[in-house]
Amino acid sequence: MVTFTEKQEALVNSSFDVFKANLPQNSVVFFNSILEKEPAAKNMFSFLANGVDPNNPKLAAHAEKLFGLVRDSAGQLRAKGIVVAGTSLGSVHSQKGVTDPQFAVVKEALLKTIKAAVGDKWNEELSNAWEVAYDEMAGAIKKGMA
Ligand code: HEM
Repeated sequence: MVTFTEKQEALVNSSFDVFKANLPQNSVVFFNSILEKEPAAKNMFSFLANGVDPNNPKLAAHAEKLFGLVRDSAGQLRAKGIVVAGTSLGSVHSQKGVTDPQFAVVKEALLKTIKAAVGDKWNEELSNAWEVAYDEMAGAIKKGMA
């Protein structure tokens, strides 16, 4: 069980809204950051075959789904202290051969993106709330990959 406060949930929710308000640009920051650290991801995501194309709507759609799931993770944690992931998520990621170090790369990219989106509202408390929500969702996905 993880203790996740109403304040932490509110921090994740409000910064998710800021992220979403400028979704196309934030999606570019997110995928560029992933590819910087993990060039192999270019061949994993079908929509990155031609690199990070700001005009490709699939980039934004995917980023919205992923960040939205981490936001939902915060809601689950506040309500019941645990996170359950959709059953298909484990198999999607195991089919793609996603590794533990790649989960760390995506986490770093997610934090960097939220930091860039919220600007001077960024602080340790906000970072920590996203980190816990991400780690617990990643853990739930990994369980489904086993
Ligand atoms: C908490 C972490 C993550 C969340 C919430 C998440 C979420 C998702 C979702 C919602 C999908 C779409 C599934 C579908 O359309 O059926 C997906 C697909 C995918 N994910 Fe993740 N993911 C996470 C971590 C990762 C990591 C670490 C990698 C490794 C690079 C990764 C690589 C992929 C790939 C390659 C696809 C298929 C994309 C495509 O070509 O359509 N994901 N993920």
